[in-house]
Amino acid sequence: MTRWWATASLLAITIPVLSQTVPGQPPINRLAPYVPSPQNVVEKMLEAARLKAGETVYDLGSGDGRVLITAAQRFGARAVGVEISPKEVKASRERIQQLKLDDRIQVIEGDLLTADFSGADVVTIYLLTTSNELLRPALEKKLKPGARVVSHDYQIRGWTPVAVEKIEAHRRVHQLYVYEIGKK
Ligand SMILES: C[S@@+](CC[C@H](N)C(=O)[O-])C[C@H]1O[C@@H](n2cnc3c(N)ncnc32)[C@H](O)[C@@H]1O
Repeated sequence: MTRWWATASLLAITIPVLSQTVPGQPPINRLAPYVPSPQNVVEKMLEAARLKAGETVYDLGSGDGRVLITAAQRFGARAVGVEISPKEVKASRERIQQLKLDDRIQVIEGDLLTADFSGADVVTIYLLTTSNELLRPALEKKLKPGARVVSHDYQIRGWTPVAVEKIEAHRRVHQLYVYEIGKK
């Protein structure tokens, strides 16, 4: 009886934490933790995507906005971030405003799985393999032919990359999987 009660109590505590639910609020669909890409990896991702001036990049799960800021500053691109964490949304918007890049960068607070990113020339992601599996149908439905997708460290299962790049940062090798719509 005592052991049954202890197990039930533990489950009651851990299940809401794992599924990130708050009583009375919709569950947060967190597809990856906040782990920023190192700056040299960000630059390599955008180079690997062959991002050109005037193109639009979407970073799905945009964290502190570093992919968006690099795309605008270094590549002359427009950038849209989709981010579920209000804390990261606030921090990235503040940084974008400080840098006076708000005419070229937008951060949308919401779930990347339901976002409209059909205007993207390039999509960048740093999620997990299982999250990429959930996202894949939306990428296939929404992206135009010729759009490029670069995934940091995690493959999109079922797609064949047009290139796999490697870059070292923070004492480990990071893999970049580059895909092109219409070249699956
Ligand atoms: C590994 S971080 C990558 C941040 C940034 N893209 C980078 O490369 O530096 C993943 C980000 O995705 C966000 N995220 C997780 N699930 C999400 C969802 N369902 N919709 C939007 N953002 C999400 C997290 O809050 C986190 O900021």
